[in-house]
Amino acid sequence: MDDLRDKYISLIANAGDEAALEDLRVQAVGKKGEISLAMRELGKMSAEERQAAGPRLNALKDEINSALAAKKEALGDAALDERLRGEWLDVTLPARGRRQGTIHPISQVTEEVTAIFADMGFAVAEGPQIESDWYNFDALNIPGHHPARAEMDTFYTHRGEGDERPPHVLRTHTSPVQIRAMQDQGAPIRVIAPGRVYRADYDMTHTPMFHQIEGLAIDRDISMANLKWVLEEFVKAFFEVDDVELRFRASHFPFTEPSAEVDIRCSWEGGTLKVGEGDDWLEILGSGMVHPKVLEAGNIDPNEWQGFAFGMGIDRIAMLKYGIPDLRAFFDSDLRWLRHYGFAALDVPTLRGGLSR
Ligand code: PHE
Repeated sequence: MDDLRDKYISLIANAGDEAALEDLRVQAVGKKGEISLAMRELGKMSAEERQAAGPRLNALKDEINSALAAKKEALGDAALDERLRGEWLDVTLPARGRRQGTIHPISQVTEEVTAIFADMGFAVAEGPQIESDWYNFDALNIPGHHPARAEMDTFYTHRGEGDERPPHVLRTHTSPVQIRAMQDQGAPIRVIAPGRVYRADYDMTHTPMFHQIEGLAIDRDISMANLKWVLEEFVKAFFEVDDVELRFRASHFPFTEPSAEVDIRCSWEGGTLKVGEGDDWLEILGSGMVHPKVLEAGNIDPNEWQGFAFGMGIDRIAMLKYGIPDLRAFFDSDLRWLRHYGFAALDVPTLRGGLSR
C-alpha cells in the first residue's frame, strides 16, 4: 500500500497537463484502477485482515483523490496564467492617427470616366487579362501574319513542350472585351470596358502594365457623327471645359474602318497643361467604325448593325488631368507620391470628388 501511495503521489505531482492527470486518475481510482482492484481483494481476506486493510485503503483512495483535485486546480491556474500572458494587450496604445491610405489616381480617374459614360447610357463590361490569342487578335481582324501583332510587343504565356496550341497572351488592349460583350449581349449594345493591359515597353510614358478604357456602341444607324459627339461630351466633362476642339486624324486599325486617332487642342504654356486652348495637339485615343469582320466574330450581322469603338489610355488622361509628369511613378508605390497624388480614402471616388480639386 505504501508503494502504491508513493507511486501515485509522485506521478500526480509530475503530471504535465490535465489530460495526463486524467489518465492517472483512471489508472489509480478508476473502475479498473489499481486501488479499486485492491479493494476488491478485501473480499478474500479474513475479517481481521479486512478490518485493518479496509480503512487504510479508503484513506489511500481519499488521499489520491484530493491530490488529483489539488493538482488539477494548479494546472488550471497555470493554463489561465499562460493565456493571460499571451493575450496581454496594452489598451493605452494610441489609435493610428492621420496616416490613412489614399485612393490611387488610376482608380479615381477610372471612376470619373465610368461616371461620365454611365451618364450617356454605357454599361461596364469586363474580360480576362490573360486572353486567348483569338480574342486578342484574330477576332479583331488581326490574322497571324499581321504586323500589328509584332508592333504590340505582346507578352506570351508558356506552353508545355509539344503543345502545339497557340499560347495565351496578356491582353495588349481592351478591344477583346468588344468581342466578349457582343457575344454575351448581342445588339444593340453600349458598353465601356476599363482594365489593365500589357505590352513589353518601358520609358517615361510607357510601362509594361497600363490601363485602357474601351468604348463600344452598336445600333442600326450609328455613325462617325455619334462617335464625335460622345467623345466631345466626354472630354468636356472630364477636363471641365465648356468648349473643346477635337481633331480626328485619319489612321489605321485592323478592327475599325474608317479609323481615326483623336487629338485635343491644348497649351503647355508655363509648363502646365491647359485643355481647350493654345496651339498644341495631344493624342488621347484611337477610334473608328467597327469593322464588319469584328461584328461577325461577335455574332452580330453586319448587314443589320453598325457602330463605333474607341480605346483610350486611362493613365495618359490621368497624367494630363492631374499634372503627373512620369507614368512610371504610378506603379512605384512610393508612399510620398501616393500621399501627394492620392485621393482621400474615405471619399468614395466620384466625378465630383475629382473635379473639386
Ligand atoms: N485597341 C487600340 C489600341 O490599343 C485602340 C482602339 C480601340 C482603336 C478601339 C480603335 C477602336 O491602340
